[in-house]
Amino acid sequence: MTGTRRRAAGAARADLVIVANRLPVDRVVQPDGSVTWRRSPGGLVSALAPVMAKQPGAWIGWPGDVVEDVKPFEHEGMALIPVTISATEYEEYYEGFSNATLWPLYHDVVAKPEFHREWWDSYVEVNRRFAEAAAEAAAEGAMVWVQDYQLQLVPALLRELREDLRIGFFLHIPFPPAELFSQLPWRRQILEGLLGADIVGFQLSGAAQNFIRLVRQRVGHKTHRDSVYLPDGRMVTAKAYPISIDTAAFEALAASPEVQERAARIRSDLGNPRKLFLGIDRLDYTKGIYARLRAFSELIHDGHFTVEDATFVQVASPSRERVDQYRILRDDIDRLVGHINGDLGRIGRPAISYLNASFPQSEMAALYVAADIMVVTPFRDGMNLVSKEYVASRIEGDGALVLSEFAGAAEELRQAYLVNPYDINGMKAQMLEAYLADDKEQRRRMKAMRKTVAENDVATWASSFFEDLALVRQGHDKQVKPARRS
Ligand code: G6P
Repeated sequence: MTGTRRRAAGAARADLVIVANRLPVDRVVQPDGSVTWRRSPGGLVSALAPVMAKQPGAWIGWPGDVVEDVKPFEHEGMALIPVTISATEYEEYYEGFSNATLWPLYHDVVAKPEFHREWWDSYVEVNRRFAEAAAEAAAEGAMVWVQDYQLQLVPALLRELREDLRIGFFLHIPFPPAELFSQLPWRRQILEGLLGADIVGFQLSGAAQNFIRLVRQRVGHKTHRDSVYLPDGRMVTAKAYPISIDTAAFEALAASPEVQERAARIRSDLGNPRKLFLGIDRLDYTKGIYARLRAFSELIHDGHFTVEDATFVQVASPSRERVDQYRILRDDIDRLVGHINGDLGRIGRPAISYLNASFPQSEMAALYVAADIMVVTPFRDGMNLVSKEYVASRIEGDGALVLSEFAGAAEELRQAYLVNPYDINGMKAQMLEAYLADDKEQRRRMKAMRKTVAENDVATWASSFFEDLALVRQGHDKQVKPARRS
């Protein structure tokens, strides 16, 4: 198949193709049988959707529902090309290999990864399907940007089909040190899959170094700094591109009268506490939700403040609900919140308002505007865009961010109240410090963080990746102009 050009009948081919497990919108079947599309969950889509809204291109992904056939369609100026997966593949490729093998392995084995050979076979099969769809959708010399851990074999499979393409890969989650990655029975195949790309991008430079070291150790290629030299003369670059958010859009949303009014309403509905703490996460065991709620409840229990002084709103959006570890987590948090509110709450004054639901961006923005202290305490997180969204939403320049050292964002947001989420007492101390901080101190910290988030937004992230990819020379001259914000 090497070098073959394949093309769907009648479909225009794109100069820029995004390949991600999910489309930016999920297919939802309403009770009356009609189909609607809703924004997909997670940081990947919230970062890439605004990038792609500003330039023409195609997005290949799964429609978020097990269906046999969904036709390509247009959405906000983008060509969306659905790749379907069967019910068995949903279990083996998505819930299994992606989210019960790779996800825990890449997040410091916070949960124990499971290794099953049939899950791997399904992962290979689905990755091949995505690569074929990309080969069909991409124009001659196009840039194809493959996203995240679900599709690590796509770069090499796609290069076999289309050697004319410039292929980029970006990993949104952490890339583990060799000591952990080496547990994976298919470690060499994954590394070789990624090496099909011209550029392999990571959130942090430490992750890129982990990758380079593993390639040297496990595949035996020559490496120097951020470069890998393949025997066929090709060079692959591995480096960090820390992802961000559409800062200006978030600021504008936060400043809108609707969001401001909603924020005031949220505070009054909560009984106008002196301080409002907030957590917003997918309900995932990497996020450290349990530990943070315990820390908060102990501060009340120890008498540092009362439920009249402070309340905690925790939004946990449902995620991967049939995977065992997620089911266990949901039960654990339900029980913990019940205990805490039973022990510490008063009538009309729960210590924790717990919402196990997803909300539109405007509601998130209202929560960010309403909250005095944002608490982001993952045990490990690739970046964590919620922390950046909070900072962008603090248009008045106040508010405090409590942030785990183990979130990628901690490398940039140094003025946050940094915590080790494994250290409950340390976390309590920092949460209390944020609670007690005077306005001047809060503003000093927030000002510096707001500068960082304003300077490094998602457009800067994408254009630095596109610029590097456009420089890759493979005997053809076609280049896509990176999108720039006006
Ligand atoms: C994280 C991952 C994404 C993923 C998202 C939502 O942000 O990096 O690749 O799409 O979580 O998870 P889900 O399994 O629902 O797609």
